Amino acid sequence: MLIEMPRHTEIFGSVKIHEVQRILKIDSGGFTNPRARDIPFDEIKDVLGRFAVIVPVKDEKIHLLDGVLRAIPFDCSVIVVSNSQREAPDIYKMEEDVVKNLHDLTQQEILIVHQKDPDLGFAFYDAGYDCLLDRDTVVRDGKAEGMIIGMLLAKSLGKDFIGFADADNYIPGSVREYVLDYAAGFCMAESPYSMVRLHWRYKPKVVEDKLYFKKWGRVSETTNKYLNLLISTCAGFETRVVITGNAGEHALTTKLADILGYSTGYSIEPYHFVYLFDQFGLGAEIITDTDTDAANAGIEIFQIETLNPHIHEEKGEEHVTNMLLGSLQTIYHSKLCNDYVRSKVLEEMGDIMKWDQPKENVIMPPIGKIDAQKFVTLLERTAKTFARFERGAIESESKVETKTDLKEESV
Ligand code: GDP
Ligand code: CO
Repeated sequence: MLIEMPRHTEIFGSVKIHEVQRILKIDSGGFTNPRARDIPFDEIKDVLGRFAVIVPVKDEKIHLLDGVLRAIPFDCSVIVVSNSQREAPDIYKMEEDVVKNLHDLTQQEILIVHQKDPDLGFAFYDAGYDCLLDRDTVVRDGKAEGMIIGMLLAKSLGKDFIGFADADNYIPGSVREYVLDYAAGFCMAESPYSMVRLHWRYKPKVVEDKLYFKKWGRVSETTNKYLNLLISTCAGFETRVVITGNAGEHALTTKLADILGYSTGYSIEPYHFVYLFDQFGLGAEIITDTDTDAANAGIEIFQIETLNPHIHEEKGEEHVTNMLLGSLQTIYHSKLCNDYVRSKVLEEMGDIMKWDQPKENVIMPPIGKIDAQKFVTLLERTAKTFARFERGAIESESKVETKTDLKEESV
């Protein structure tokens, strides 16, 4: 892969944010020059073998999920976390069938679980991590909550890198590229605490029966503006470095995943920045040993512009507004937010909200202390919706380890 070098890196305390880098060639020929870096495919393949791709899904068209799953490179493990409907028509059942069929045909490692499985809720309770539970026993709705489930499963597989791919993507080839772009980012990273966030060159929309190649969405433009304002006012130097505030498609090292705090629902992505600024930004006080280790190593953020455009399901105006509100709320409540930035954020929110005080998003603490092995052993024994299809030899029968199998063994 040939990828542009970042023109500049913004250093904010221990956080290093690289300016956007374009993918020049997905398959390159080994030619390097001062403006571009060539990453040989065997280096990328090595990362893919240590990589889990999480696909959060909630009631998406089954053909879209099927395309996304088929596009993820074989060397990665795939983790599907679903919050789809269980009443007839049982969408989760269709998703399970797609996963099982894909495993039967390919032998790729795939895990699947339903977010509302009561035994999954119990496993979180047992692990002492009940901040994402509703009514004490069941995991809340929310994409972030699904992502946390996926990260624990990835940790139980011993993976070093964790990435996300939405299930509503219309172009499977773009999903394949995203995963390769993540891997390329990790090949370039110097710190074990790093993150890769994708930026779309275009997000095409149908306008008057023609495809229009739109560059920016309203939410991302606004989120980026205020995240940059937060850094600019703190550092005293204006910057526009952040262009991936709402990057749903992102990946991070497991070491970084262990120390991050997570905001609920769709505010999880902008909150990555807010959390890192608050904990590791200019003048932040580092308390724990793991945070000291990360601060010494530095936390590196890559922003990669994909070659493929991003075409996904349009979810309507209300979804967009909620996403924007969630993003602005996290910025408003940042420790670094001064009166000036607060007043600007309030002005922006004035148009879209009725309350005079922005709500605080629910924040979930780091997952580093949870024993992921124990968590998954409990799931394997109890959770009916949890299935783990192992990577197998091509000739062998597909093997699925579920609660039923384990029961049969013990009879
Ligand atoms: P956008 O693309 O950022 O506007 O947001 P989407 O609505 O497309 O959501 C991103 C991904 O998260 C999609 O694959 C959704 O199906 C999935 N998703 C949304 N809500 C939930 C949820 O509550 N739980 C899980 N597990 N996935 C969700
Ligand atoms: Co989407």
